[in-house]
Amino acid sequence: MTGTTSGGGLHLPGYLREPAEARTPLAFPGYRSTALRAPLRTPVDLPQRLTEVTGPVLGEDRVLPHDADLTLRRGGEALGQRILVHGRVLDSDGRPVPDALVEVWQANAAGRYRHVVDNWPAPLDPHFDGLGRVVTDSLGRYEFMTIKPGAYPWGNHHNAWRPAHIHFSLFGRAFTQRLVTQMYFPDDPLFGQDPIFNAIPAAARHRAISRFSLDRTQDNWALAFEWDIVLRGSEQTPFETDDDGDVA
Ligand SMILES: [Fe+2]
Repeated sequence: MTGTTSGGGLHLPGYLREPAEARTPLAFPGYRSTALRAPLRTPVDLPQRLTEVTGPVLGEDRVLPHDADLTLRRGGEALGQRILVHGRVLDSDGRPVPDALVEVWQANAAGRYRHVVDNWPAPLDPHFDGLGRVVTDSLGRYEFMTIKPGAYPWGNHHNAWRPAHIHFSLFGRAFTQRLVTQMYFPDDPLFGQDPIFNAIPAAARHRAISRFSLDRTQDNWALAFEWDIVLRGSEQTPFETDDDGDVA
């Protein structure tokens, strides 16, 4: 979207706001830490002015091709099941969003983050740091090669385990399209006991789950999962509720 001038004034585009019932609540009873950080008053929607409907100009040269391959780091190959994660970034009208910065972070195959406060007894992988980024192409497509993350315990309640997930951050074309969320894998047996996944309104949960895509698997190399991400609007990918204890 771009602003236009007509009739002597600057007309800025607006971005659809998701309906209140589709928003992931900031406080969720089973998700313990939300009780400490969720606002006590109803948030106020800010008006969409120039600052909100324009966005960061990131520059292509800041993202390098190898940033999209998380399996080759520190001079060696990561352990685990290789997966190609791919999809499109779309706006609320179904149009592709080109040149969008997509950043990901995730645990290794054993379910451990490379982070100073993640020290549960699962091994670190010397060739996996769990960080990647890519810029969408002219059709809004993104893809990166990584390994399937493991589940990990996070202390929310007794025997609490996070389903396998990959964290995503997108800037979109404007600050009002900023999205921070998590991608899940189909049929994860841990969904039922995870309050972060279940904090997403039931009707929207399927939009946080990737799809196994046999057509993009690579013979003798990697499985593939497809996940389209929608910025703003009724089909918006659900925003995550913030910190899931992994601090990454
Ligand atoms: Fe996580």
